[in-house]
Amino acid sequence: MSKPKIAVIYYSTYGTNYAVARAAARAAEEAGAEVRLRRVAETAPAEVVQSQEARAKQLASMQDIPEVSHADMEWAEGYFVAAPTRYGVSASQLRAFFDTLGGIWQQGKLGNKTFTATTSAQNTHGGQEQTILSLYATAMHWGCIIVAPGYTDPVKFEDGGNPYGFSTNAGGLDDAGERSVAYQARRLVEMTRKLVA
Ligand SMILES: Cc1cc2nc3c(=O)[nH]c(=O)nc-3n(C[C@H](O)[C@H](O)[C@H](O)COP(=O)(O)O)c2cc1C
Repeated sequence: MSKPKIAVIYYSTYGTNYAVARAAARAAEEAGAEVRLRRVAETAPAEVVQSQEARAKQLASMQDIPEVSHADMEWAEGYFVAAPTRYGVSASQLRAFFDTLGGIWQQGKLGNKTFTATTSAQNTHGGQEQTILSLYATAMHWGCIIVAPGYTDPVKFEDGGNPYGFSTNAGGLDDAGERSVAYQARRLVEMTRKLVA
């Protein structure tokens, strides 16, 4: 069986999306993928990060995770993206990284790969679906194949039911959420395997 190359790319200020990304990476590995877990670089000024204890602690705890690079984007055959909702779209740290990818996008190195996304927000109706859809719009510009979970597994009736991708309230990755993230990651691996076969 082939070993699809999956990049799990996340940005997280307070830890929710970090937990989602780790769960996704574990599940993708268990599904037989070669996985790179990668962190999006913090762009907020150091004084802003250090002014909040929780934020500073979270960043310090993730220093062993390599920052995502252009080489990772080229290497991957499928992307699993996790990022918080900010004002109804994804965190600017992730957008800033995406904005550096024009060169490799132009060379066609982001196309024909699978892409799935998850998010968290403070409020259930604070933009969760919209954030994921905004990430999918970017993936479509790259020429990716969107792998949304839909309602293709019973776990989607336990996890809040976002068919575009798993989403949760901030800090709320519970057992059903973990299983949903694992399902979404496995589905990405399976679809990537079909695509690269
Ligand atoms: C600048 C800013 C804007 C935010 N905008 C929204 C929003 O539009 N809707 C919402 O429900 N939560 C919003 N939040 C809350 C974040 O979504 C929440 O902090 C995040 O999901 C936590 O993820 P993390 O633990 O991975 O950092 C915002 C937070 C910040 C700092």
